[in-house]
Amino acid sequence: MSAPILRRLADLRAATRPWIRAGERIGVVPTMGALHDGHLSLVAAARATCDRVIVTIFVNPKQFNNPQDLASYPRTEEEDARKLARFDVDALWVPDGAQMYPPAFATTVSVSGLTDVMEGAWRPGHFEGVATVVTKLFTQTSATDAFFGEKDYQQFLVVRRMATDLDLGVTVHGCPTIRDIDGLALSSRNLLLSDRARTMAPRLHEEMEVIALGLRAGKPFAPLREAALTRLDKAGFTGADYLDLRAQDDLAALDVPDRPARLFAAAWLAGVRLIDNIAVE
Ligand code: PAF
Repeated sequence: MSAPILRRLADLRAATRPWIRAGERIGVVPTMGALHDGHLSLVAAARATCDRVIVTIFVNPKQFNNPQDLASYPRTEEEDARKLARFDVDALWVPDGAQMYPPAFATTVSVSGLTDVMEGAWRPGHFEGVATVVTKLFTQTSATDAFFGEKDYQQFLVVRRMATDLDLGVTVHGCPTIRDIDGLALSSRNLLLSDRARTMAPRLHEEMEVIALGLRAGKPFAPLREAALTRLDKAGFTGADYLDLRAQDDLAALDVPDRPARLFAAAWLAGVRLIDNIAVE
């Protein structure tokens, strides 16, 4: 059955009031729409864990540091609602910009430390935008649980830190990245790839796996990184914002994976910025 689409905060509050009174677990899956199987895996995890499931769709202008990126972000609300029909979602929360950020809105949520590197360094203001909107989504929905994809691993860590620091009472769950059969991490931005670029895109993940293999064999990170960047360049990528080996808990830069670590990358292909990360044992 299709979930009701709620667009006004008063309607959302009316829907959640009886759930809160009954002490139910409310699981929230925050999204910006253009739903793919990665999002749907989060919805399935929420459905398996919680009494109620709310999916939010809001293309948050505050987290886009590039107006072109905001303008071209795919918007597919009807199709999204259709994709969710089989998940028995209790509500779709789809506020508009004025509902989320009324004219006098003046508050920013900022997480330090974790946001200094990678996405935070390359996209100024991005994580303030994410933390601000996610705080609002948590409080608007009265979430007890929230589900985030590990594809945006840094975002997952930032949101978890924020929920803990602000005593929001929300358990933040990280769920595994879902990949296409050729290894490309599912992302709404993949819709922006031309057919030709789509065939080249899995190369990023392949090169990350090559580095991981080298690290497992005890090779040093720096030359593995340089060689992978050169091959990506030859394969038609037009630069990488970062290709880093970092600790999984605090994102400290590492030369060797001597503690639980992940490889993180952001690289450009035909005008589309792809990001990915993988665990390195
Ligand atoms: O990951 C996303 O789609 C967005 O950053 C989020 C968490 C929905 C906040 O706008």
